[in-house]
Amino acid sequence: MRLKDICLGLALVGLTFQIQASDTAALAKAQGIPYPAVIAHRGASHDAPESTAAAYQLARDLGADYLELDLQRSRDGVLVVVHDDDLGRTSDVAERFPERKASPVSAFTLAELKTLDAGSWFNRAYPDRARPTFAGLKILTLDEVMDIAEANPARTPGLYIETKVPNQFPGIEQDLQKALEKRGWLDQPGRVVLQTFDRNSLALLHKAMPQTPKVLLLWLGEDHVEAAPGQAFAESGLPDKAAWYARQQPKDRGEFERWLDIAKHTGAVGIGPSTALAAGGEQSYADLAQPWMNRMAHEKGLLVHVYTVDEPVDFKRVSEAGVDGIFTNRPGALLKYHGRPVAQDEALLLGAGGW
Ligand code: G3P
Ligand code: CA
Repeated sequence: MRLKDICLGLALVGLTFQIQASDTAALAKAQGIPYPAVIAHRGASHDAPESTAAAYQLARDLGADYLELDLQRSRDGVLVVVHDDDLGRTSDVAERFPERKASPVSAFTLAELKTLDAGSWFNRAYPDRARPTFAGLKILTLDEVMDIAEANPARTPGLYIETKVPNQFPGIEQDLQKALEKRGWLDQPGRVVLQTFDRNSLALLHKAMPQTPKVLLLWLGEDHVEAAPGQAFAESGLPDKAAWYARQQPKDRGEFERWLDIAKHTGAVGIGPSTALAAGGEQSYADLAQPWMNRMAHEKGLLVHVYTVDEPVDFKRVSEAGVDGIFTNRPGALLKYHGRPVAQDEALLLGAGGW
């Protein structure tokens, strides 16, 4: 092949990439979704206790596009923001309600949830990031997170809302629709993105809020994208789960495509795949955001928002692989990676916010 032909080939490859990038930017724009989207996972949860006012205010003031949250419902029917099925990891439930320490969130009234300390665990787990003001932070309602998102006129993030364990909360999709509609949030294109791992919940979300963009979260494993046959972790001899996950692949391309079609046909505008991280760790899973997977999603008109990525080396890899947005516990670092302005660093913003 002559040099001229090689140059022409390279130029065409470049042009193809540009066309794909601008196409997916247009896809996002059509939904009112920023591109590439910076999604603050449980708030700025590297620097403040997850899903609390400190984490969400910090993410807002840094300039994140979305505050990500996991939605559950209290025993008396209030929509609340908690990630885990129970309260043991992120609160003092074991001291306050020892007999119910392993009970699901749905076993507690809002008044009971509000007695819990959702901040001190962070100070113990991360002494280098601890602050006395984090002690006693409260579990938040959905309305309170909306208040935070509306409170700084210079920074007006959207909400990226996951229905968590939705089979425990029949009707939560309609409750969510009412709560968002009441405050006018459904009239603002792209201000809300709905996400779930559960295809039944996705269908219910689509029925309740047909115009609101939705994302099907993807996971390699049981009841989700089927994995290629291989050794179980216990038999693998690998040192940790991250190393094992990193070797896992979908059964074949057809299996991955099947899940894209489920997402598309159930009303999603995008997928939210897991990924494997360079340094491993608890957030490192099977890589479902490989270049061919992102290309296939884009060819079907689906956006790709990958979870959960905190380090520049991984920002670079997933961005080069073609994702359209990133869930991160470190929105400040991701904004800087994208060259977007961040007024102050995390410590200064926390101080200015009274934390
Ligand atoms: O919602 C995206 C990502 O948050 C999914 O994982 O377990 O952190 O909710 P998880
Ligand atoms: Ca989530």
